[in-house]
Amino acid sequence: MKRKILVTSALPYANGSIHLGHLVEYIQTDIWVRFQKMQGRECHYVCADDTHGTPIMLRAQSEGITPEALIERVWHEHKADFDGFHVNFDNFYSTNTPETRHYADDIYLKLKAAGLIEIRSVEQYYDPVKEMFLPDRFIKGECPKCHAKDQYGDSCEACGTTYSPTDLIEPYSAVSGATPVRKESGHYFFRLSDPRCRDFLKQWIADPLHVQSEAANKLNEWLESGLSDWDISRDAPYFGFEIPDAPGKYYYVWLDAPIGYMGSFRNLCDKLSAASGKPAETIFNEYWGKESTADVYHFIGKDILYFHALFWPAELQHAGYRTPTGVFAHGFLTVNGQKMSKSRGTFITAASYRKHLNPEQLRYYFAAKLNSSIEDIDLSLEDFTARVNSDLIGKYVNIASRAAGFIHKKFGGVLCDCTASLSPQSDREKTLEIFIRTPSNLMPPDFQPTGNFETPSLTWLNIRRSAIEIARFYESREYGKTLKLILSLADEVNQYVDRMKPWELAKQEGQEVKLHEVCSVCINFFRLLTLYLKPVLPKLAADVETFLNIPPLQWADTIALLPAGHAINPYQHLMTRIDPKQVESMIEENKASLAPAPQASPARHAEKQQHEIQPIAETISIDDFAKIDLRIAKIVNAEHVEGADKLLRLTLDIGEENTRNVFAGIKSAYAPESLIGRHTVMVANLAPRKMKFGMSEGMVLAASGSEPGLFILSPDEGAKPGMRVK
Ligand code: 2FM
Ligand code: ZN
Repeated sequence: MKRKILVTSALPYANGSIHLGHLVEYIQTDIWVRFQKMQGRECHYVCADDTHGTPIMLRAQSEGITPEALIERVWHEHKADFDGFHVNFDNFYSTNTPETRHYADDIYLKLKAAGLIEIRSVEQYYDPVKEMFLPDRFIKGECPKCHAKDQYGDSCEACGTTYSPTDLIEPYSAVSGATPVRKESGHYFFRLSDPRCRDFLKQWIADPLHVQSEAANKLNEWLESGLSDWDISRDAPYFGFEIPDAPGKYYYVWLDAPIGYMGSFRNLCDKLSAASGKPAETIFNEYWGKESTADVYHFIGKDILYFHALFWPAELQHAGYRTPTGVFAHGFLTVNGQKMSKSRGTFITAASYRKHLNPEQLRYYFAAKLNSSIEDIDLSLEDFTARVNSDLIGKYVNIASRAAGFIHKKFGGVLCDCTASLSPQSDREKTLEIFIRTPSNLMPPDFQPTGNFETPSLTWLNIRRSAIEIARFYESREYGKTLKLILSLADEVNQYVDRMKPWELAKQEGQEVKLHEVCSVCINFFRLLTLYLKPVLPKLAADVETFLNIPPLQWADTIALLPAGHAINPYQHLMTRIDPKQVESMIEENKASLAPAPQASPARHAEKQQHEIQPIAETISIDDFAKIDLRIAKIVNAEHVEGADKLLRLTLDIGEENTRNVFAGIKSAYAPESLIGRHTVMVANLAPRKMKFGMSEGMVLAASGSEPGLFILSPDEGAKPGMRVK
């Protein structure tokens, strides 16, 4: 029976950009899934945008659009980033879907029927102006301990104390600026403290297959200190699913987020059903039904372990579904040894990385750093450049170019028969060959995996026998070990080339057969190394498959040799080295122009993710607004202003006969050259203002918040200078 596997990565929030911190997890998972698929397993990888909650509701409001429009737009951005990094979901969906609602209701109603839902009154801060309850992160005030001003409702950034919002001195709503009032409301709780949940979780955590040992320690600490019931409802206004028997109450975003894994998979089942003829419900139950024999694995960041290894299995267990086979947590990403930071330019978005560098190089580097533990991993940009250039390109990619040129120049692009050179020669090699073919995976004790592989047949045997170990490393998420082993094999191949000196053979008469053999052997070595690297470098492997003129490599192809007479295509450049300047310009760009995004790598709780929002100004009428004449302007010139630290002089075309001269305080965020040719929005009827440097005839609009950064506006494509914005 084929092993059936369902794999998920954590669902990204639909109000922020994907950044390198997120990508650690998607790349880690994608490598694992690609490996399983290459093994011929029935493996499905699903994800979705996490679309509900207060921050998304408020973000949409502040953009003047509906939450549905916001999540739709962000979905496309996320999808483009995932595609760009070759993260190959079988389904990338959304939690705001009928499927997720269906399973959320189903689970809630079953937990309720099991007596595990309880209603309790909770007193919380309420914003009387916005008429909404305020999540902790949306209440600010003075720290009760160190008296620092403007601290969040859950903890003080100045002294680190954690407290509850009601402890804040002179609290105010970060949404409207109003003084919040305390108000009671009925909340729905999942009774995690019930002995049924506790007893189940205790035994679930005890199984080492379910969670890593470091995670189990943490979970047991939580269990021992006593689990509290979990508040799963929020009051209107809230963007989410209304609870079926509780008008005005919504599921808390974290209740339906993991259920989004099911929703996305159920949606995939419709597609699988159309292809296989099997009813979608049957496929769904094969994976999620109580009797499922399939595996379900969740890849997550260590910060969301509580949700995935306590709430989630307890919910599933008591709602009649199967529980996860394993929850794999990883650590956070640091860049150059420090937390990602906007001011240092190391808070790098996926989109910005893609503009400057090759995504597969990051996949390679992350893989080299990843293991099965929950330790943090560091992206050292210098080490990144060095490893990609010297290991990936210098050791592996170059093997192809060392051999392929001769095959084309001298032998019409055709390989010779390598059977004789690559068959076991000595008795020892013959024994090894038998071991490789024996499924028990055992190696003779005297066999040293490293050493002098003086014959190509021994190198070939060593590369082939490594398949077992490499597969084991992939399976156990020890990608660093995988790559180390593959590189050591590439070293052997390079030593072989150095010993054989094909460039000299090419010059010597009568050495054609030898040269043909050396280069053909090399191409066979390269093919197998490519197979091993394919989960990490899928695009490169596809390019190699085209170059070698072979069908997509599968794990079972480790045995075969390319036959005599096999024609390969002319060698095409496979990968470009990193120029440190590319890295520098990426860092520069991220220093200068970042859209508001989550504050630090995976410190991602919904409420924490929201950047600070300034109070909304006093209400105005539509007539007040109509007085402001906003126009699309083309920046025809931009230049520094002598003696001004903050200003740039912009020349704007708004379709009038003459251009306008505007001084804009955006020097800190933009190099003038980068602005020329862009379209933006200006206030065209602002009274001209005489400034020290000349007359300013209007104003361009830019966004700014409490964090550093200024962002001028851009219209969508198609807007022309002079068009009115209203
Ligand atoms: O922490 C986060 O970014 C959440 N959006 C992850 C949700 S994972 C799952 F539960 F859906
Ligand atoms: Zn403090």
